[in-house]
Amino acid sequence: MPNLEEILEKYPFVQRDNLISILQDVQSEFGFLSEEAVVKVGKYLDLPTSKIYGVATFYHHFRFKTKGKYHIRVCNGSSCHVNLNSQIIREIEKRTEVKNEEVTKDGLFSLEETTCMATCGEGPVMAVNEEYFTNLTIKKVAEIIDSFKRLEE
Ligand code: FES
Repeated sequence: MPNLEEILEKYPFVQRDNLISILQDVQSEFGFLSEEAVVKVGKYLDLPTSKIYGVATFYHHFRFKTKGKYHIRVCNGSSCHVNLNSQIIREIEKRTEVKNEEVTKDGLFSLEETTCMATCGEGPVMAVNEEYFTNLTIKKVAEIIDSFKRLEE
């Protein structure tokens, strides 16, 4: 696993135009943008950290917190909302003991409420890492999360 310096070395010509590419590389390598990484990138590009946070928060795919081994994304979009996704979210919170943007103490689960996940016709929808689960019910959510817990027994 390369460290942050190795990522920065890929951009020998220090140009602020590289900011997004550098942040994407950092997130792809570490899973999120840590405060330490933001400060180092800022020093490298001679940009204030406030500018970097401003740019990174504009693009919704950047994260500032680490993820769990099983990162759960659940749709909080309006179509899923009509299909009672709030009950689904409460069930996920209950089963994993994490709330939005949190990670369990053992690092297994993290939760992220997202905007539309582009499968509105099959909502409510959630994903665990890259695997999608659609037409969710409370019972189905419980089974899905329990199946991931069992993988760790
Ligand atoms: S609103 Fe949930 S998938 Fe579109």
